[in-house]
Amino acid sequence: MKPKVLVTREVFDEVLEYLSQFFDVTSNQSDVPFDPTTLASKLSGKQGALITLSDRIDTALFSHCPNLKALCNIAVGYNNIDLEACTKAKVMATNTPGVLDDTTGDFAWALILATARRLTEAEIYLRNGQWDGWKLKQFLGLDIHHATLGIFGLGRIGQVVARRAIGFEMKVIYHDVRRAAPEIEQACRASFVSKEELLAKADIVTIHVPYSPATHHLIGKRELEQMKPTAILINASRGGVVDDAALIEALCSGVIAGAGLDVFENEPKLNPGFLDLKNVVLAPHIASSSKATRYNMAMLAAKNLVAALTGEKPPNLLNPF
Ligand code: 8YV
Repeated sequence: MKPKVLVTREVFDEVLEYLSQFFDVTSNQSDVPFDPTTLASKLSGKQGALITLSDRIDTALFSHCPNLKALCNIAVGYNNIDLEACTKAKVMATNTPGVLDDTTGDFAWALILATARRLTEAEIYLRNGQWDGWKLKQFLGLDIHHATLGIFGLGRIGQVVARRAIGFEMKVIYHDVRRAAPEIEQACRASFVSKEELLAKADIVTIHVPYSPATHHLIGKRELEQMKPTAILINASRGGVVDDAALIEALCSGVIAGAGLDVFENEPKLNPGFLDLKNVVLAPHIASSSKATRYNMAMLAAKNLVAALTGEKPPNLLNPF
């Protein structure tokens, strides 16, 4: 008898075919996210699952699924998983680092370019039939070339964003809990600065840190007030790293010039204040969403699940075993 596993959201057929070689697979291809009660009942009797950020994993869940051995997130971020609770319940947890770095870094650049050059605002104006001719002062934006890029978090994705800045001949500064190795700083042409210096000097502030209690509201009212009034803020990391209410207030009152956002507090219900603002570029958490990368993420999660349930150490194990 093959072990039973659950796939909580829609994935590519190839991923299901791969998993079916090893497991008896139940999958939610209708893609309606499970509420916590449904997730617990669907996981009961299963040994493992491919999960996503829409699945909350905590202590309460484990009492319903004593057979569970592995939960494999299709994401590099794992703030949806209580790792300590997994370890106590002897459940392996894994993520998908590496495969999405370039694609997510590319998307941060899409947000930087679109926000600095006011692309969403200009397109809405055009589509609404408001364009009545060329004007010298129309949609004046922020120059990206030769500007100062400030990166919070020079991890894998932050490094990709920094390396792309070389082509725009930018000055790159970064802040992180730990200073990066000299060879990384050199490859990224990035200088380490304090949080305060980054906020004060950057024309573009871009965030690439994981969400945790330590990074909750890393950017709030005080930090926004430390930024230049001409600066823009980019977030393609996690909702909650930025205080959305404070950001809306800052964008409304001209404390900063604009923001490009792929992630929000309380996703998918974003703060309605964002919708009334012209100086924001908004995306529905799609930074890793190229066809190749989403496929690679799901396949890597599947490989982690196969390893975990066939006695191997999963390549991306997050908790001690
Ligand atoms: C995922 C992400 O698409 O990997 C991450 O941490 O934020 C995205 O790439 C999302 O989390 C799906 O679970």
